[in-house]
Amino acid sequence: MSVEINSLLHAGYSHPLFREWQATRSITKSALMYPIFITDVDDAKEEIPSMPNQFRWGVSRLQEFLGPLVERGLRSVILFGVISDSSKKDSCGSMADSDECPVVKAVKVIRKLFPDLVVACDVCLCEYTSHGHCGVLYDDGSVNNAKSVERIAEVSGNYALAGAHIISPSDCMDGRIKAIKSKLMELDLSHRVAVISYSAKFASGFFGPFRDAAGSAPSFGDRRCYQLPMNARGLARRAILRDLREGADGIMVKPGTPYLDILAEAARLAEDYPISTYQVSGEYAIIHASAKAGIFDLKQHVMETMHGFMRAGASLVLTYFTPELLEWLDN
Ligand code: PBG
Ligand code: ZN
Repeated sequence: MSVEINSLLHAGYSHPLFREWQATRSITKSALMYPIFITDVDDAKEEIPSMPNQFRWGVSRLQEFLGPLVERGLRSVILFGVISDSSKKDSCGSMADSDECPVVKAVKVIRKLFPDLVVACDVCLCEYTSHGHCGVLYDDGSVNNAKSVERIAEVSGNYALAGAHIISPSDCMDGRIKAIKSKLMELDLSHRVAVISYSAKFASGFFGPFRDAAGSAPSFGDRRCYQLPMNARGLARRAILRDLREGADGIMVKPGTPYLDILAEAARLAEDYPISTYQVSGEYAIIHASAKAGIFDLKQHVMETMHGFMRAGASLVLTYFTPELLEWLDN
């Protein structure tokens, strides 16, 4: 039985190096952004039960936390604030950009300690509002989009002033990219602060562990009137195109693995832009739980998801596995 010459594929990936060549985009350290939780308890290192190996870090321990990672080749982080005392939260999230905000303090500290590390700030109000929603609300509990956008732009401006390289709004309000860009122009920072929009962010069950970690679960209702319906490819496309028109420097698809089709779509729609995806807290927790249960090998599972993101068109992956990946990429 003879095999046609054109049917022979095995030789092309018969050597480990040949296999590396098959990647359209390889995983590199510069393609990793590490999401980190900064608490207002300055000297804290608090375990997050639903996210193994992740901690809420106080500002005074950032050298100890990030030093070894920067040494290993960490290039960028994205910061999330945690407010331990909920009496400091109010209806418009005043803490988000106060001088007391752990993110504002951390940006300044990180910029000083690690001048070459790129610092992104997630911009949202849910970690700072008493109601736990991502925007400012009307009395009836629905989102006041105009007020929310105004507040999101104000917070963005203050993170930029504190030294953020990247503003990354995850609030999902309509029109916020244009408002943030305008604010940055007003502050004369628009030439050196980039905006990466969480454009295709779905109302997902996979954010659960994050909301434990950040204390940002809504106190009533859910986020389905501003985050995208999980079945919505059309809305995702429209949100991406909208954010590009409004001046985003890059876009994001979130969560990652369950939305690889959207990521591939985003890479086509925004082919001239960096495309990012967020392997979120629930994806992280699942991979850890399955490894612990002996169902999957942790490294193989993580690498497989990473290759999926790169194949689908990601230039940048936000992942809690960044510390492990920095090690694995050395070997
Ligand atoms: C804030 C925000 C969330 C995440 C990133 N920014 C939570 C949410 O929208 O409820 C989720 C990240 C993760 O799950 O790892 N809006
Ligand atoms: Zn939010």
